[in-house]
Amino acid sequence: MDCRGLIEKLDAEKQLGFAEWVTLLSSYTPADRLFAAEKAALIAQKHYGRKVFIRGIVEFSNVCSNDCFYCGIRKSNTLVQRYNMSDDLIVECCRTGWQNNIKTFVLQSGEVGCCADRLGNLVRRLKRDFPGCAVTLSLGELSMTEYKLLREAGADRYLLRHETSDEEHYRKMHPEYMSLSNRMECLRNLKSLGYQTGCGIMTGSPFQTPQTLAKDMLFMHGLQPEMVGIGPFIPHKDTLFASYPAGSVEQTLMLLSLTRIMLEKVLLPATTALGSLKSGGRVLGIQAGANVIMPNLTPKDVQNNYLLYNNKLSADKPLAEAVKALSEELNTIGYAFEFSRGDWSEKTC
Ligand code: 5AD
Repeated sequence: MDCRGLIEKLDAEKQLGFAEWVTLLSSYTPADRLFAAEKAALIAQKHYGRKVFIRGIVEFSNVCSNDCFYCGIRKSNTLVQRYNMSDDLIVECCRTGWQNNIKTFVLQSGEVGCCADRLGNLVRRLKRDFPGCAVTLSLGELSMTEYKLLREAGADRYLLRHETSDEEHYRKMHPEYMSLSNRMECLRNLKSLGYQTGCGIMTGSPFQTPQTLAKDMLFMHGLQPEMVGIGPFIPHKDTLFASYPAGSVEQTLMLLSLTRIMLEKVLLPATTALGSLKSGGRVLGIQAGANVIMPNLTPKDVQNNYLLYNNKLSADKPLAEAVKALSEELNTIGYAFEFSRGDWSEKTC
């Protein structure tokens, strides 16, 4: 079957076999990519209209006990100035978002795994101060007990990219003491606790192949995550992967489209990394089937120490102006922001 046939089959059956994925991922043409993007955008519109959910992200700490080979805030990067924002400052960042009608706060940090109590109290505080808000956490691998505590505190969603579903590929990107099986168990734990759960990958990460990507698609089909984060790998100069090339905009768009076709209602961000690789990249992501954009609520001076990769898009204007500019960009392609919480739900619009 040719690529177009495989895309049609994916649309009809919502899954492909391993060999079919490998064929599709290794031989699609630019025309196939546009074909997939058109289908994906129509599917997103069927469920969500021409609307894009908005989430505010607070990168509240860059302290990390992990050492992922690709990541700029890995613990062995001694050139990073480490920070850990106070609860009051985090709440103030969220307040700025709230005043701009943003109702989901994404709290992201390096992996420290020692502060579930603190974070639990913070989640409760956010829920009290901003009634009706949604809280998404992105704190890495924690124990079941910690995930449970945070869920009971009111956290609604959790993002934990699995990075790759191939054992050997995982080994090439992470230190010995980390394991793919633990990451996958974390994802299953999150799901079982009732979090809207997000997994995901970087496109074009070093050693990625059509085979590893095929496994990612199969894994995601099995997990049925409510959210998927897909952004290009971008090298950071102080990491082991400094000299590897960045992933491509085109491949990222193709994977966004295929993910949308496979997991129709998934909440799929047009990521900051995509916007960092190409100006207007996030709008291209929306046209390829993404339906979430996450403006940054982190204070500007602090943002510059949360560089997972170089040339990261950073807020150059106050939030209200940034949202307005993004809004206008979306309008030019016939889309608009949707300011509701934007939960994954069974029903469609
Ligand atoms: N390029 C792009 N994305 C990166 N991430 C980490 N390092 C990089 C990089 N160099 C992504 C990982 C992680 C998420 C928070 O950021 O996929 O899960």
